[in-house]
Amino acid sequence: MNKPIPTWEPLSPEVLADQLGTYDRMRAACALAESPRGVTLFRHADVVAAASDPKTFSSATSARRAVPNAIDPPEHAAWRGLIDPFFAPAHMAALEPRVSAIAQALVAALPRGAVVDAVSEIGAPFAVRAQTEWLGWQGIEDELLSWMADNHAATRSGDRARTAAVAAAFDEIIRAQLRRRRESGATPPTDPTTALLATTFDGHPLDEADIVSILRNWTAGDLGSLAAALGVVVRFLATHPDVQQHLRAHPEGLAAAIDEMLRIDDPFLVNRRVTTADVRIGDHELAAGTRVYLNWTSANRDEAVFGDPEAYQPERNAPDNLVYGVGIHACPGRPLATMELVVAVRALLQATPSIEPAPGVEPVRETYPLGGWRRVPVRLR
Ligand code: HEM
Repeated sequence: MNKPIPTWEPLSPEVLADQLGTYDRMRAACALAESPRGVTLFRHADVVAAASDPKTFSSATSARRAVPNAIDPPEHAAWRGLIDPFFAPAHMAALEPRVSAIAQALVAALPRGAVVDAVSEIGAPFAVRAQTEWLGWQGIEDELLSWMADNHAATRSGDRARTAAVAAAFDEIIRAQLRRRRESGATPPTDPTTALLATTFDGHPLDEADIVSILRNWTAGDLGSLAAALGVVVRFLATHPDVQQHLRAHPEGLAAAIDEMLRIDDPFLVNRRVTTADVRIGDHELAAGTRVYLNWTSANRDEAVFGDPEAYQPERNAPDNLVYGVGIHACPGRPLATMELVVAVRALLQATPSIEPAPGVEPVRETYPLGGWRRVPVRLR
């Protein structure tokens, strides 16, 4: 039987005011729903099935080249072979002390006893400083912070000309970094940006456009995701003093704990696919060429897999956690993101006896294209 697909308005003010609650209600009522933007999959099994079938659910969703995000098999595997080594354990271990120093300095400078916004005063500056340290882009932190704000506002506005202008501005930031290295003569700095310039693909140096695209995917989206992820984690710690105290005594459990906090309130909402053939999902038929949204945030709260979505159970839920995706496009930056988040939270816990919600100041939820929190007022003791 081919049932009509229910409709919804994912960017209506009502949905944006309560993304998590809406996804919970949608998931309980229907496996998928349609809007003029495409069809959204809400349930864990359907999201995993689509992400695991790149032949039917292609990532080539826009005309713009995005390496490796929008590339399908077989070409995709070669790009991942090139990209994944940048996140190898030895590189992450070498970077960790430098990121740790950044986190400790940032936390040391935060006021005690006053209201601190965990997103704009911890998450965003930490994400930008850690990423610029990793890539060797020191000195442009303020430029990147103001770009992040412009990018978010442009995406929310839905104005294509504005988003295109912001994207072009970011490409220019990247090209300036590439020029700086090319002009630095025989001894460019040793960092991943220089390494990418020296990398070959099929025996040839990479096209400038591909280098820019790779660097864009390592920075543009992920600065926002990291900042938002820290907001979610700090909010969880502030509102769950028992978990906070446990982690103070057992910091070795931080990586698993952070993954679980992000599962409960995943700030990385959706990724797109386009169907290459007619495909059946439950009682519904999607025609070839349908734009599909994999809703990670909803799938990560699916009662069929996790029981009570709010229940904090790091070990039990780890195997099904979709915060970093699944399938061939699963996040290559996961080791970096995890290291950065662990280092930041460890610095916060080590430098304070307690993190509490700031009395009398309400937190504010974030809206599409991100989830989690826009403002998380906390008080550090
Ligand atoms: C908390 C932080 C992060 C979250 C929640 C996150 C989440 C994700 C998810 C869900 C995907 C799957 C996309 C899909 O299936 O279409 C993905 C892919 C990707 N992520 Fe991350 N990510 C984070 C941080 C990072 C960082 C720090 C980097 C790099 C520096 C990175 C680079 C990428 C790239 C390049 C892809 C595309 C992989 C491919 O298409 O093969 N991410 N990420």
